[in-house]
Amino acid sequence: MRTVCPVRSTETETPSTITLRFDYPPVARPGQFVMIWIPGDDELPMSLSYTEGSKGVTVKAMGDTSRHVTQLRTGDVVGIRGPYGNTFDLGARNILVVAGGSGAAVLAPAAEAAHALGARVTVALGATTSSELLFRERFLAMGADVHVATDDGSVGHRGFVTALLDRLLTSNAFDAVWTCGPEVMMVKVIAAGERHKIPTFCAIERHMKCGLGLCDACSIGPYHVCVDGPVFPAHRLIVLPEFGHLKRDPSGRLVSH
Ligand SMILES: Cc1cc2nc3c(=O)[nH]c(=O)nc-3n(C[C@H](O)[C@H](O)[C@H](O)COP(=O)(O)OP(=O)(O)OC[C@H]3O[C@@H](n4cnc5c(N)ncnc54)[C@H](O)[C@@H]3O)c2cc1C
Ligand code: FES
Repeated sequence: MRTVCPVRSTETETPSTITLRFDYPPVARPGQFVMIWIPGDDELPMSLSYTEGSKGVTVKAMGDTSRHVTQLRTGDVVGIRGPYGNTFDLGARNILVVAGGSGAAVLAPAAEAAHALGARVTVALGATTSSELLFRERFLAMGADVHVATDDGSVGHRGFVTALLDRLLTSNAFDAVWTCGPEVMMVKVIAAGERHKIPTFCAIERHMKCGLGLCDACSIGPYHVCVDGPVFPAHRLIVLPEFGHLKRDPSGRLVSH
C-alpha cells in the first residue's frame, strides 16, 4: 500500500529522537519497515517502532532528511509505503535483546510481541549517555529485565553494551539473541552468541531506494536487505566481507561504515 498520511502525534523520546504516530491500516509485523517520504525532501526507510493500532516510527536526527522528519508536527503530512521486509521469529521462549542507540526502535515492538506470547525477555540497552537511552521505560513496562550501558558512564555500566553480554549469556539459558545497532556492535554480539552457542538474529540497515528488491541499492553479498532482510540470522552475515566494514553510499559505491 502507498498513501499520504497526516501525522497523528509526535513524542520526544531523547534529545535527538522522536516518534511519529499515524493511522496507516496495513497489517505490519515486528521487524518490518516502511518508506517515509517527506514532501519537498527525500524518502527514507524506517522501522516500524509501533506495529499495532496506530503505527509509529522512531527517528534519530542524523542527516538533513532525518532531521527534517524530527521537526514534523501533528497534522503535517508524510507519504508512506510498505510495510516491507521480513520479521523476527516470535517462536523463541527466552530472548536476549541487544540494542544500540536507535536500534531499540525495531527491537521494542518485537520484544513486546514475543513477551505477549509468553517469552521471557532480557534487554541489554546501550547509548552514548543516559538521556539517549531509547525505550528503557517501554522495555521495563513490558516486564523485561533491563541492563544498561552508557559510553560516558552516566547510568549503568560505563562502556559499550557488548561488555554486558558474557555475564548475561552465562547466567541465563537463552534460546535466541536479537540485536540492532551499529554494525561494529553487532559483530561483537554475534561473536558472543557464537561463544555461548545461542542463535543470533540481526536487523541491519543499508541505503534503500525502491524497497522492493529491484534497484540493488541495498545489496550486501547475495542479499537485498529490503526483501531478504532486514532481519538476518548471524551465520549469513558473518561470512560476508562487507558486514561490519563496508556499505553502499547513495551512488552505489562501497564506502567504510
Ligand atoms: C530497514 C531500515 C530501517 C531503519 N530504521 C530506522 C529507524 O527506525 N530509526 C532511524 O532513525 N533510522 C532508521 N534507519 C536509517 C534511516 O533510513 C537513515 O539512514 C537515517 O535516518 C539517516 O538518513 P539521513 O538522510 O538523514 O542522513 P544521511 O545524509 O544519509 O547521513 C548523515 C550522516 O549520518 C550517518 N548515518 C546515516 N545513517 C546512519 C545510521 N543508521 N547509523 C549511524 N550513522 C548514520 C551518515 O554516515 C552521515 O555521516 C533505517 C534504515 C533501514 C535501511
Ligand atoms: S532498495 Fe532497491 S533493491 Fe533494496
